[in-house]
Amino acid sequence: MLASRLRAGELVAVPTETVYGLAANALSSAACARIFRAKGRPVSDPLIVHIERLAQIEELAVVTPAVRKLADAFWPGPLTLVLPKRAIVPDIVTAGGSSVAIRMPSHPVFRRLLRLTGLPLAAPSANPFGYVSPTSAEHVRDNLGSRIRFILEGGPAYIGVESTIVDLREPRRPVLLRPGSISAVEIEQVLGCPVKIRSSAKRAIKGPHIAPGLLARHYSPATPVILHDSAVDMSVSRSDEAYVFVRKPAGKRSLNCHWFDSRGNLAGVARTLFATLRRLDRAGYRRLHIEKAPGVDGLAAAINDRLRRAAAR
Ligand code: TXA
Ligand code: MG
Repeated sequence: MLASRLRAGELVAVPTETVYGLAANALSSAACARIFRAKGRPVSDPLIVHIERLAQIEELAVVTPAVRKLADAFWPGPLTLVLPKRAIVPDIVTAGGSSVAIRMPSHPVFRRLLRLTGLPLAAPSANPFGYVSPTSAEHVRDNLGSRIRFILEGGPAYIGVESTIVDLREPRRPVLLRPGSISAVEIEQVLGCPVKIRSSAKRAIKGPHIAPGLLARHYSPATPVILHDSAVDMSVSRSDEAYVFVRKPAGKRSLNCHWFDSRGNLAGVARTLFATLRRLDRAGYRRLHIEKAPGVDGLAAAINDRLRRAAAR
C-alpha cells in the first residue's frame, strides 16, 4: 500500500536507524519537489538517496573500490557517501550538482518498504527545515502531520543522530562532511588513508555542492541554547532556565535539572538528544544550558556538532 503510494509519486515518512526521513521516489523530480514543499526546504539543499541493495548503486553513481570497501564495512548502516552522479538522478535531488549522496539504511521496517517499492528513495530528515530532527513517528506527526498523509511507524530511532557523510568523489581524498555515529577513525581504518575533516565553520560558508544545507543554524529549538564544556561550569542558579547534563547529576536535584543518559553513555545520549531538545523546547524555559559530550571523535563529535547547530543564532 505505501509502496504503491511511493510509486505514484506521494510522500511517506519512514523510520530509519538514525532519524525519521521523508521519502519520495528518487527518480521522479515531481515527487522529490513535494519533499521540499512539505519541509519548507530550499532547493539548494540536496537530498540523500536510500537504497536497499548494493546493486542499485550502479545506476545512480560512479562506484570505485573505495565505495565497495566502505559499503562492505558499514552498509546497511548510518553512512552516506557523496559520489559522482549518473544522468538518471534528477537535478532536484542533487541541487543541480554533479554528485549524489547515497546511503543503505539498516532499519528493517524501512528496508522492507524499499524492497517492496523497488525504487531508490530520496529522504531528508522529516522535520520542517531548520528545526530539530525527528526520532519518532510522533515527532513527525507533531511537525508535519498536517502536510503529509502517510507516516510509517517503526519505533524510536535507535541511533538518534543523522548518518556520517563522507565525500568520496576523490577516492584517495575522502572528506568527512557531517560527523555521525561512524567515526572518521573507523573510516580511515577501512580506507587505509587519512580522512580530511571539514570544520563546521568551513561547512557553513561553503556552496551547495560541497556541504549544502549544513547551515550553521540547524537542528535548532526555538528556545536559546547555551553550551558548556563540562558540568563543572554549570551552576544551577535560575529556576526559569533548564540545565541539561550528559549524565544524571549526583545528589539533590531541582526540577529544572535534566540529563540525556543516566550513566552518561554516549549511545544513550545520542538516542535521546533530539527528543530532549524537543521536550525542553516546549517546557517554557527562557534558556537551555547544555553540557557538551566528552570526547572529540565518533558519537561525541556527532552530538557536539548537533548541539553547536542548536546553539547557533
Ligand atoms: O541519517 C540520515 O542521513 C537521515 C536519514 C533520513 O537517512 N537523512 C538526513 O537527510 O539527515 P538531511 O537531508 O536532513 O541531511 C542530508 C545532508 C544535507 O545537509 C545535504 O546538504 C547533504 O546531506 N547532502 C546531500 N546531497 C549532497 C551532495 N551531493 N553533496 C554534499 N552534501 C550533500
Ligand atoms: Mg536534516
